[in-house]
Amino acid sequence: MTSEEWAVLVEDNGKTYVVELTNQSQKVKGLGVINPVETLQNVPLGGRVEIGQKELLRLPPRLPELSKGMMRRAQTIGSKDAGFFLARLGLGPNDKVLEAGIGSAGLSMYIQRVIGKSGTHITVEPRAEHAEVALENLRRTTASWGESPTHHHIEGTIEESIQAIAEFSDGYDAIILDLPDHPPAIEACSQLLLPGARLACYCPVSSQLERSWEACEAAGLTVEWAGELMEREWGRASKGGMRPVNGPFGHTAFLLVAQRQ
Ligand SMILES: C[S@@+](CC[C@H](N)C(=O)[O-])C[C@H]1O[C@@H](n2cnc3c(N)ncnc32)[C@H](O)[C@@H]1O
Repeated sequence: MTSEEWAVLVEDNGKTYVVELTNQSQKVKGLGVINPVETLQNVPLGGRVEIGQKELLRLPPRLPELSKGMMRRAQTIGSKDAGFFLARLGLGPNDKVLEAGIGSAGLSMYIQRVIGKSGTHITVEPRAEHAEVALENLRRTTASWGESPTHHHIEGTIEESIQAIAEFSDGYDAIILDLPDHPPAIEACSQLLLPGARLACYCPVSSQLERSWEACEAAGLTVEWAGELMEREWGRASKGGMRPVNGPFGHTAFLLVAQRQ
């Protein structure tokens, strides 16, 4: 597949649509029924197209656009926290990364982008309806970017999948957990960390953070960093100058990174 098989269309307000370039009518939520090939055949990247009442800009399917226009089911991890995980876990080519649960693959898209085709990505998820959405999002990224890591998806909880995970690799360079209950998972999977490798947890509430910290220490890991990232957007003021934009100063989650030393 090539990047021509998916098109990205963006409204002026930033709303993003990811459309499969098939030569047949399909219903695209928010755009109505269109034949994508017919509608877009004369619209180059950077060109504009009118669909119904909407004027849309066509852009290439890069990570920010595919992430904005992704299918969603479970709550996703966004760029603020994903970027921190990629940096603090030091992810890159050749890495073997274990991730649970996959949810909607919000984080998986970032992981696959940075580890690239030489990496190995193992995902674990007990809910088939979540995995279905996640695997569709990863199908789009693979088709759009023309490459992806070796990816194995395991259906089940991480605690009950340790043997299956170990069959793909004896050890992992990084493990990322975004689960309702981290301690049993930490206890089960920390043995899979290679020396120097790190485990990260995404914890929406502080009680999860505290329990994750305790579970990491009980598993013999050293907690390297725990806390929250705050992101404050600025914009142009109507009377000139720049200032923080009005709007909610939201919370996503507390993050924890621990290392096997
Ligand atoms: C908040 S979602 C993950 C979202 C994901 N990080 C993303 O960015 O799209 C949490 C997921 O963990 C899954 N889950 C719950 N318990 C689990 C377990 N013990 N092992 C693996 N996955 C689990 C849930 O079904 C759910 O899909």
